[in-house]
Amino acid sequence: MTKNVLVLPGDGIGPEIVAQAVRVLDAVNEQFSLNIQHESALVGGSAYDETGSPLPEATLTKAKAADAILLGAVGGPKWDKLDMSVRPEKGLLGLRSNLELFSNLRPAILYPQLADASSLKPEIVAGLDILIVRELTGGIYFGQPRGIRTLENGEREGFNTYVYSESEIRRIGRSAFEAARQRGKRVCSIDKSNVLEVTVLWKEVMEEVAKEYPDVELTHMLVDNAAMQLVRAPKQFDVMVTGNMFGDILSDAAAMLTGSIGMLPSASLDAEGRGMYEPCHGSAPDIAGKGIANPLATILSVAMMLRYSLDAKEAADAIEAAVSKVLDLGLRTADIASEGCETVSTQAMGDAVLNALTAQH
Ligand code: NAD
Ligand code: IPM
Ligand code: MN
Repeated sequence: MTKNVLVLPGDGIGPEIVAQAVRVLDAVNEQFSLNIQHESALVGGSAYDETGSPLPEATLTKAKAADAILLGAVGGPKWDKLDMSVRPEKGLLGLRSNLELFSNLRPAILYPQLADASSLKPEIVAGLDILIVRELTGGIYFGQPRGIRTLENGEREGFNTYVYSESEIRRIGRSAFEAARQRGKRVCSIDKSNVLEVTVLWKEVMEEVAKEYPDVELTHMLVDNAAMQLVRAPKQFDVMVTGNMFGDILSDAAAMLTGSIGMLPSASLDAEGRGMYEPCHGSAPDIAGKGIANPLATILSVAMMLRYSLDAKEAADAIEAAVSKVLDLGLRTADIASEGCETVSTQAMGDAVLNALTAQH
């Protein structure tokens, strides 16, 4: 049966990195006879420019029909002054909420070849393998009411609402415990329960969920300490589960442990495991158009897509092995450049992954 992938390149470096990821997808499609078809659509600032909406109806319809979605990144200074309702980021958030992609898996794995690209000492990050499970369709990102209002004294006030229902907490909790079962069997739930009621409830519900998983250990940590522990001793973590905003922040910090944010892939899944796959980083306006962005996070997101949504584990393994091979060969994009290694372009990194795939097969 044909599998349909919707490709959403987006803005900034999005089209550059997605082009390399699609080449990799095409290569494994052929090598492993996966019967994958893909088509592209507009999202983000480029969609706004063309249609007036960051998430055109046509894109949402295609996204709902697709077996999986591959997204580059959205946003950029060109659109930063737009009203919040039509900002590029709204396109991404709209996809996540409309498709109910509540479970965001962000694995931070250190490839041993990149130990010296990490900003931490090699011994602190050697062997690092943690999974951040971020709630993606609730919390302060989506809570109502929200806005900017004018008070009686004429002063303006901005406000957002941090809210989670028990069922929202329970389902992301189960995602985290299920994931932990497949790996180190430890979940650390991150909250701010010393200040915020919503996370007092979060903590309570995590305790309830833990009872369903007696084989998995649950601990709790306050988010400020968690940020500190991530840079002090990151290997203490196995699975970290947290809300939308804390997860956004902690995953960028975790990314740097692996050498670069350009290395971190992600999967955003619904209750049935249908998903959207994207690098954790953004559209990197500072390097867009230069052909130097690291495409590996996006290429590794294709591997996650094959594994989680397209039932093609062998192809996923092959991509991850090819990435490792390319790093063995000493090829690095600028963000992970290191002495004695060759600094290559986005395209050349794509070429190298393709060569490694062909050589393996
Ligand atoms: P960013 O992640 O785009 O960039 C942060 C820094 O990391 C920059 O110096 C950038 O050059 C570097 N970087 C990021 N990805 C890289 C890669 N693949 N290779 C090499 N270097 C890379 O974050 P930002 O600058 O805060 O945000 C820029 C825009 O991206 C904003 O409009 C923001 O809203 C958007 N954004 C989108 C997503 C997404 O689409 N998922 C995620 C984060 C930020
Ligand atoms: C991410 C991004 C998004 C988020 C933005 C662009 C809406 O930072 O995917 O991490 O905050 O979730
Ligand atoms: Mn982010």
